[in-house]
Amino acid sequence: QLTESDIMIPIESFEEPWVLFRGKDGRAGCVRDECAHRACPLSLGTVVDGRIQCPYHGWEYNTGGKCEKMPSTRPLKTGIRALPCIEQDGMVWIWPGDETPAATLPSLLPPENYTIHAEIVLELPVEHGLLMENLLDLAHAPFTHTSTFAKGWSVPNMVKFKTPMQALSGNWDPYPIDMAFQPPCMVLSTIGLVKPGKLDGSSTASCSKHLHQLHVCMPSSRGKTRLMYRWLWTLPNGRSMPYIDRVWTHLANQVLNEDLRLVEGQQDRMKRGANVWQTPVG
Ligand code: FES
Ligand SMILES: [Fe+2]
Repeated sequence: QLTESDIMIPIESFEEPWVLFRGKDGRAGCVRDECAHRACPLSLGTVVDGRIQCPYHGWEYNTGGKCEKMPSTRPLKTGIRALPCIEQDGMVWIWPGDETPAATLPSLLPPENYTIHAEIVLELPVEHGLLMENLLDLAHAPFTHTSTFAKGWSVPNMVKFKTPMQALSGNWDPYPIDMAFQPPCMVLSTIGLVKPGKLDGSSTASCSKHLHQLHVCMPSSRGKTRLMYRWLWTLPNGRSMPYIDRVWTHLANQVLNEDLRLVEGQQDRMKRGANVWQTPVG
């Protein structure tokens, strides 16, 4: 989303307001979305020459948070907090912690030959834990996704998640889907385009066509998640067709909406004291 030099993206992370923009050198930066002068949100302003300009009295900050311009007054040495910020695989990572961030980041690139069909960013009214549990749980598919990808799926007697390699990833049986949870808040899944049960419980590696999904669930504030969703196919993406991106985005939204009303409902019941883990199965 951070495509042009004058674009800024306000985000919330763990209830704190931040804003992303590109500096003069084109690199992404993340500063607190709050002016050092009178606490006006900087994201209401503009980006001028790689500096974010406050819309109230025009103070300007670089990506390091240093105030470099202070019109109409004798300049003071001041600034706002800036977070370590790295751009990789089309994602901007920020580090809101106090410790030094990890030197390397996990790659979120899909295997070769995939083309991106849709990238969606949504602010969702559910907390990230519930949302990730929903994404990692496939037993719900034939009941919840009856208008989209699980249309016509029969309900199996037993649904298994096999973890042959490591505990955080594995493949579903009978569903043709491999899944991995990547801490702290990402779910990667690869869907083989065959009917459920056709793979005899093995991974989707033997399928000739796949759909690949990446869900990044960033905790923004209490009961809210910023979801970044990337959808990729091994099929040609048909980008020459007008509005094809919108078609994919619409489909992705449809799937998500089938889940959302349920998870929002769970969250409501949790607020009223319900224990969502009262009857674990395995
Ligand atoms: S509040 Fe930002 S410049 Fe005054
Ligand atoms: Fe779902």
